[in-house]
Amino acid sequence: MTNIQMTNKKISIFFSLALVLISFSSCNHNRKTPGAQYLDDMVKPIAYEDYSINPVFANRMTEQLPVEGTIARGKMPYSYEKTADGQKLAGEQLVNPFKMSSDVLEKGKNQYGIYCLICHGPTGKGDGSLFKSGKFTAQPTDLGEERIMNMPDGEIV
Ligand code: HEC
Repeated sequence: MTNIQMTNKKISIFFSLALVLISFSSCNHNRKTPGAQYLDDMVKPIAYEDYSINPVFANRMTEQLPVEGTIARGKMPYSYEKTADGQKLAGEQLVNPFKMSSDVLEKGKNQYGIYCLICHGPTGKGDGSLFKSGKFTAQPTDLGEERIMNMPDGEIV
């Protein structure tokens, strides 16, 4: 082996050892700390917490109100007052977009089970488990009573 070959071999052994050392030392067996961090911001985000004071906006609020006149995606704003008059007007103006079919009934049953059953009960009598538990004290309306059965869809909406 020539001198140059010897030197090359020493250099490659040195680098191999250094690589092994570096890879072992970057392992961290304490799972409560993140170990070596090379992209610090991903571990400690600079995003503001929801209700924290925000230095960027003039009103200091992190959660900004929607810009006037805009509607959030997937939301449909109510355009009727939450009053008896508003309810009556909705009943006169709104048209139920769903045509009666077994599919629509099935979907309605499913939605009722998710959103209404807990108060109005399995047959709509107002005897849902939440009301019966006594934790919600307002008596839910019996949805089968004549007044409700004859109520225009828009009023119910
Ligand atoms: C947290 C309990 C609760 C849930 C959930 C609930 N309701 Fe009610 N509901 C009530 C109570 C209480 C009343 C009676 C309110 C009153 O008389 O002011 C009522 C009244 C009604 C009325 C009569 C309104 C009127 O003008 O007289 C209808 C219709 C109705 N609910 C439908 C529904 C539908 C449909 C759902 C599901 C999308 C639902 N409710 C979910 C408690 C609930």
